[in-house]
Amino acid sequence: MTGDIEITAKSLRILSEAETPPFPIEANSKTKEEIRLKHRYLDLRRPDLQKNIMLRSKVTSSIRQFLTEEGFLEIETPILCKSTPEGARDYLVPSRIHPGNFYALPQSPQIYKQLLMCSGYDRYFQIAKCFRDEDLRADRQPEFTQVDMELSFVDIDDVIDVNERLLAKVFREAIGVEIPLPIQRMTWKEAMERFGSDKPDLRFGMELKEITDIVKDSEFAVFRNAVSEGGSVRGINADGMGAMPRKKIDALVDFVKGYGAKGLAYLAINEDGNYKCSFAKFMKPEELDRIVERMEGKPGDMLFFAADSKSKLVFDVLGALRCHLAEEKGILDAAEYRFVWITEFPLLEWNDEENRYTAMHHPFTMPMEEDISLLDTDPGAVRAKAYDIVLNGTELGGGSVRIHQNDIQKKMFEVIGISEEDAEDKFGFLLNAFKYGVPPHAGLAYGLDRLLMLMCRAESIRDVMAFPKVKDASCLMSEAPNVVDKKQLEELGIEISKQPE
Ligand code: AMO
Ligand code: AMP
Repeated sequence: MTGDIEITAKSLRILSEAETPPFPIEANSKTKEEIRLKHRYLDLRRPDLQKNIMLRSKVTSSIRQFLTEEGFLEIETPILCKSTPEGARDYLVPSRIHPGNFYALPQSPQIYKQLLMCSGYDRYFQIAKCFRDEDLRADRQPEFTQVDMELSFVDIDDVIDVNERLLAKVFREAIGVEIPLPIQRMTWKEAMERFGSDKPDLRFGMELKEITDIVKDSEFAVFRNAVSEGGSVRGINADGMGAMPRKKIDALVDFVKGYGAKGLAYLAINEDGNYKCSFAKFMKPEELDRIVERMEGKPGDMLFFAADSKSKLVFDVLGALRCHLAEEKGILDAAEYRFVWITEFPLLEWNDEENRYTAMHHPFTMPMEEDISLLDTDPGAVRAKAYDIVLNGTELGGGSVRIHQNDIQKKMFEVIGISEEDAEDKFGFLLNAFKYGVPPHAGLAYGLDRLLMLMCRAESIRDVMAFPKVKDASCLMSEAPNVVDKKQLEELGIEISKQPE
């Protein structure tokens, strides 16, 4: 192809005949992804996918090498399991020998790796297949790969230290990017208040600012009521976007409504210093001035505000709007890698539907020592010894220090409404193992596919997996899932009540 080498053939033997492929095998393919996925074996010949798949292999071997040198043992854990408590829906596998019984495919090796700590394998890792039956998005697949690890006799700093060195090595070796260490840390609370998200993209500013105190007694009912009902009013400064046309603003209102917002208030600062403001008629001029001052507004800026009786919604709305505006402004540099550790997550989150607390990470996560007494009085305020590693607004991985004390674990189950019988039934084998001596332990798991997506600057997680599934969790090439023979079902004692259409 390069013209550098010329070959004179003496004879020619065809090893295998080939038909013309149904689409051109070329980089930056214009062919529809559906067609390419149907013939994934051809798609995988394309140079951009080859590059990704090769990088994936390089990354996994670099991870294996680092962790092995650090004294981690690579240990495989079962795929046919009992349900694990990661919170997503399980994929189930019927048992032929035990009719009516099912295995669950692991959502993660969580319980097994904790058992390995009880067994004394004090540094474990695995490049593990995980399965979660959840709604797919651009960065989610029903089966995906974790780089999973667990360590004994450690605390948060030890886990963070080994993982920072791991990330630095992998980025250096695989894509020649130097990650400055140590990686910045930010508490969950700070991340929410400044960026409206627990996975903040730190490549740009546009930080959230709170104006609750300024507007709480104003004439503007939308703001005043949100505050009196226990919520807050916050805004972002979309600097330099003050000349935004009305149509564009309307489109943003629609955008935030998708996140549950009831509206989006705005204040544009004209070049002459006058304001164009959707709620001006309800505000005193000095109130508007104070708002502009708080938001560090200058001529040519556009300020957006969200108010709600639930601050969580205000954060979600502005966090999403912030990223949306950055994308529209085209200020995101895919070649810039901004890492941040998010720490001090809430231990619990309130579930409106089930009317109870659930574990934010998982039920084995240790509360922060100084917050343990709050488990009885104010469970929602308890912070966890949990941490996430975030890169450019994507959660790459997460983990926690685990509970290894029986009394704290009992309390935790009690607070999230898991009865003793339930706990015994679900995780009895883990609780039993703890009885025979369990070292303090902690761990973390990365989503390998997400890591590669960012390293390859791919738009979809599908571009870094050899044989991915599509949005409805099917494989377009093999046509899995599919109906099976009646005989197979009979052996399993299964009858299909709803016939496929
Ligand atoms: P968690 O549930 O946070 O933690 O998962 C760890 C990481 O796995 C990746 N991930 C996914 N990647 C692709 N598709 C999915 N559907 C998907 N779901 C999760 C994410 C996430 O950060 N056992 C704990 C870890 C621990 O505590 O040690 C766990 O699984 O990148
Ligand atoms: P209204 O008086 O309902 O027309 O609202 C005046 C302005 O407030 C409009 O720009 C609305 O988009 C905006 N608005 C309405 N509800 C909210 C809210 N919950 N948060 C922020 N702005 C809102």
